[in-house]
Amino acid sequence: MTLQAVKNYDYMSRVAAEIFLTQIKKKPDSVLGLATGSSVLGLYEHLIKSHKEGNVDFSEITTVNLDEYVGLSGESDQSYRYYMDNNLFNHININFSNTNLPDGLAKDVITECKRYNSLIESFMGVDIQLLGLGLNGHIGFNEPDDVFTKETHVVDLEESTIKANSRFFENEKDVPRQAITMGIQNIMHAKEIVLCVSGKAKAKILKEVLTGPITPHVPGSILQLHPNLTVVADMDALSEI
Ligand code: GLP
Repeated sequence: MTLQAVKNYDYMSRVAAEIFLTQIKKKPDSVLGLATGSSVLGLYEHLIKSHKEGNVDFSEITTVNLDEYVGLSGESDQSYRYYMDNNLFNHININFSNTNLPDGLAKDVITECKRYNSLIESFMGVDIQLLGLGLNGHIGFNEPDDVFTKETHVVDLEESTIKANSRFFENEKDVPRQAITMGIQNIMHAKEIVLCVSGKAKAKILKEVLTGPITPHVPGSILQLHPNLTVVADMDALSEI
């Protein structure tokens, strides 16, 4: 594991963006595993800025996102498809047909999980996977559980996750109760992983993730076993370590 300890959120975003820009320069047809949430927004802003300055070309890039809420369409402004379109894809020269998220409106979610799992497997390991960290240690939407679920699956969101994510919705009751998420094996197959963590609220869970026992009760702890993990975390997030 490489730990990049940075001053604050802005530095975290810049350092993580540089890792992605280097990857894209090295391999212009990279498959990027992408994430949503506030931790990665700054990184996307840097990628857009770099693109506008003519420093990066996304035309051959493929993306595959970690997760999507069940029951929300891509037009709903709380869906992760909407987040990705508005915070990244609409501002860069990516081919939209090369951007992938689970379909939150799929009639048969089990079939949709199988489709998405096969898609991820077809990449033979995404080149670089971006991750944020949930307050309960979740990665993607892999919630604490008695077992690690390997493949793409439907998950019932924990009350704490619903509460944490309600800040993006008008009402807590509007937060979907289920999501489709990449499984732990899907994530761990990535050739490289970049985990971005910022803020005091994540300090305790980050310590557990990086230094505690590897357990499905702290899903992010599995990352200790990844051979090419970079953690980019700010001083507040690292304050317990
Ligand atoms: C959501 C996403 C996760 C993300 C987490 C943390 O639950 N499914 O992929 O890592 O939120 O979000 P934030 O960065 O806003 O704290």
